[in-house]
Order: sequence, then structure tokens, then C-alpha cells
Amino acid sequence: MLRLKALHHVHVQVADLAENERFATAFGFHEAGREEAKIYFRTSGNDAYSYVAQPGEQTQLCSIAFAVESYEDLESAVRERGATPVRPLTGPGGGEAVSLTDPEGNIIDLVYGIKERQPDAMRRPMAHNHPLARMRFNEAHDYPAMGPSTLLRLGHIGLFIKDFKRCDEWYRNVLGLVASDQLHIGGAQYVGGFYRINRGAEWVDHHAIAFFAFGKSEVHHMSFEVPDSEHQFIAHRHMQKGGWEPVWGVGRHPLGSHVFDVWKDPNGLRFETFTDTDVCNNDRPMGIHAIEASEMDVWSNDPATKYFA
Ligand SMILES: [Fe+2]
Repeated sequence: MLRLKALHHVHVQVADLAENERFATAFGFHEAGREEAKIYFRTSGNDAYSYVAQPGEQTQLCSIAFAVESYEDLESAVRERGATPVRPLTGPGGGEAVSLTDPEGNIIDLVYGIKERQPDAMRRPMAHNHPLARMRFNEAHDYPAMGPSTLLRLGHIGLFIKDFKRCDEWYRNVLGLVASDQLHIGGAQYVGGFYRINRGAEWVDHHAIAFFAFGKSEVHHMSFEVPDSEHQFIAHRHMQKGGWEPVWGVGRHPLGSHVFDVWKDPNGLRFETFTDTDVCNNDRPMGIHAIEASEMDVWSNDPATKYFA
């Protein structure tokens, strides 16, 4: 079994790279390097880069990269999973990669050895004065300055898919992911799933990949962790002020519990920030839910169609 560590980065092709760069900067990314027309963006966390954009005729996903535990995992992916030969990576931090293709035609890269950066200093956790647990005494609340989010890492990717059964099997069997929750529309017809990385007893995010079987193969959203929901509300104001297109949020998803805020870049790509996610390990049973009884946001009356439009 491949030993995945975490999602590492997502790579897209965009019709208008200049606008995407302007959006990415407002959203909280920092340039980590350039290679011809390709831009590597980093967060304030320790990954050398988390988002890669290059120009192309149409906007589309190029690849999703998971970091693996060791070089041997790359070799075993080639030997046992039919991955492409090991190749050197040319982006910041170097490293090596192999590529697999999922049943929808998405390229899934496995990467190893990308040198990490020293993360930026982070603000201390929000001190919230709950009536039963006061945390601030003779002290005013210390909030982040208005501006872009402090992004920390790529947390999960949402994919529109065509074939739920084949994706469910592939992501479980080839990448070893574990389903945290699945959504059905009655009987055995599943249309949604949230899958986490299998780290045994270790705590991992509720999902690294989410599927929505809505009849097309494309990326739905890319989600990056931020320290807390106050960063999201303040960054929301900053994005609003910049005239960027809101999609949904600030809200809270019931599955995974994370607080989210979603924006669209001028190429139509959805970028999400998230915080306060559930973490799970192999003791957690899978949840099965009827989609008509499921909500996407516990803080609003907005219909789920708003998120998927
Ligand atoms: Fe998300």
C-alpha cells in the first residue's frame, strides 16, 4: 500500500494567468518561483509551494500532488500501480515525482523529497471569552489586520466526477484513501464522498478529496487552511473590497465541520479557505447520508446549488 503523507500541491492551467495571479495575491498566496510562464505559489506554511498556475487555452486542472512517505513509495507506485517512471521536479525545493491517472482522467502525482521552507511566524490562537472559559483579562481582543488570508497549506480538493463507483474503488485501492462520509440519492446510488488519507491511528483531516458525481469531470474547488474563522471574515471583507466574486461563505459545512469561505477567480476556478476541520483516525466509522436530508451550510439558508453552480 502506498504511504501517503498529505496533499502537497495542485497544478492548474488558466486562460488568463495575469488575472489569476492578481486573484491569488489577493487571496493570500505568495510567489515562490517562476519557470517560463509557470508560476509557483506558496502559502505561509512549510510547503515549498501549494498552488501552481500556467497559461493555456482553457482553464482546467493539470494535476493533484500527494506527498508520500519515502522514495520507495515512488518506486512501488511504478512497479505495482503502473505509475510513470520517477522524474526530477524542477520547482522550488526540488524533489521527485511519478504520475498516476484516475478513472476520470485526472493526473495524480506522487511527490517526495521537496525541501520544506521555514514557515512564517503565526499569530497566537484566537483568545475567545466564552462565558464558561474566559481567556482574556484586562486585554482587548487582538484581531488580524484587514488583508489577504494567512494561508497555511493545501487541505483538500473537490472534484466533479462522472463515475462514483470507479472513483470510489480507485481512490481506496490505489491511493489507500478511506471514506469518512458518503452521500446517496436513495438505494445504492452514491453521488458524493469525502475521503481522508490513511494514516492509521494518526489524526488527519476529515477529507483530502471530495467527489461530487454530477455528470462531468472537472475540478470543483481547491481548499487551503487558515488559522481561524476571524481570519476568514476579515479576508472576506478584503476580497469584497477588491471586487472579487464571492461563491459561498463564510459558512460551516456539517460534514467535516470546517468553516469555509469560497471565491471564484476570473477564470472560473473556485478557491476556498477552511479552518476548524474535524480530524479523524482509523477508529472513525464511515458515515452514510441521504443527500436530500443533508445540508452544505449550517449557518445559512442558501441552497447547495449555490455552491455547485
Ligand atoms: Fe471544501
